[in-house]
Amino acid sequence: MGLVLGIESSCDETAVALVASDRTIVAQKIASQDEEHAAYGGVVPEIAARAHAERLAPMIAAVLKEGRVALADLDAVAATAGPGLIGGVMVGLVSAKALAMAGEVPLVAINHLEGHALSPRLADPSLEFPYALLLVSGGHCQILRVEGVGQYRRIATTIDDALGEAFDKTAKILGLGFPGGPAVERLALQGDPKAVPLPRPLVGSGEPHFSFAGLKSAVLRARENGQHAPEDIAASFQLAAIDCVIDRLRHALDAIDPVRSLVVAGGVAANASVRTALEDLAENRGLTFSAPPPSLCTDNAAMIAWAGHERLAVGLPADPLDVAARPRWPLDPAAEPVRGAGVKG
Ligand code: KG4
Ligand code: ZN
Repeated sequence: MGLVLGIESSCDETAVALVASDRTIVAQKIASQDEEHAAYGGVVPEIAARAHAERLAPMIAAVLKEGRVALADLDAVAATAGPGLIGGVMVGLVSAKALAMAGEVPLVAINHLEGHALSPRLADPSLEFPYALLLVSGGHCQILRVEGVGQYRRIATTIDDALGEAFDKTAKILGLGFPGGPAVERLALQGDPKAVPLPRPLVGSGEPHFSFAGLKSAVLRARENGQHAPEDIAASFQLAAIDCVIDRLRHALDAIDPVRSLVVAGGVAANASVRTALEDLAENRGLTFSAPPPSLCTDNAAMIAWAGHERLAVGLPADPLDVAARPRWPLDPAAEPVRGAGVKG
């Protein structure tokens, strides 16, 4: 049974995992930097890179010890090589290079988005290609047709903010702290989702993409006019965001070659209301629905190790020791650029 060591350090989670080819997560460690960044209301790249540099090596040692494996026993070392905050990516990728060199094992440079895109297959062995994927995280908001390992067709992206970013900004406006997604979800449980009239940007539009900037501005106005309770704003925001997601997915499912499954991945996929809405959409469309457990939705290293397994299993080559860290790295290089200043791959 093959073992891949995965390393993730592209944002504010330092993570290491040892994953077997039968999908067993043999050992894993994850350290979040919420405390370090809380005072700034967002991730500070320099602080993130330093924290990764301090924590990563002991975490790797601990995972190898817990898994009772030597470097030479590994099938490969897989590390996120982008996209993300470049300082953090470099810490993880350079560590992986050193480990691969020392153990004389292959290095696999993983696109972080590919890690998210294949994470549902780590959790669900029955999930087959092709599938429609909603990838929703703090930095990305895309609909992809996942055709196979290394084969991703981007159908839609955001023309401004990512969905997780919209949750984080709403949390900030409501004074809920960082990271905002889970806090907005908790507060929304106590509110009335119909209480605050909020826009649904691009709903019904003929173009396939997402937009959340107008929704965020409307949340700010609702907060500032003082007429609404925070829980009602949180609940109304969450419903508006979900309405946008469902509309955009309907549009995408009409446009693409048929798939049998609707799949969600990325940090926002941890949100129970989002998951329920997607499950309903899948049922209406006669599709199976697949979502990884919340621990595999937010950033983690098991998905990076798993992407390494998947790439090697289909015969994709390992990477050379001089492979570069990439701050930007679109999953679908052939995707058309879209309008908007804040487009992120
Ligand atoms: O995938 P992820 O951990 O990191 C990126 O690659 O960006 O996603 C983090 C994002 C953050 O914006 C966070 O607020 C959001 O996912 N998130 C949530 C929930 N948990 C995390 N958003 C809504 N509801 C949640 N329960
Ligand atoms: Zn991520």
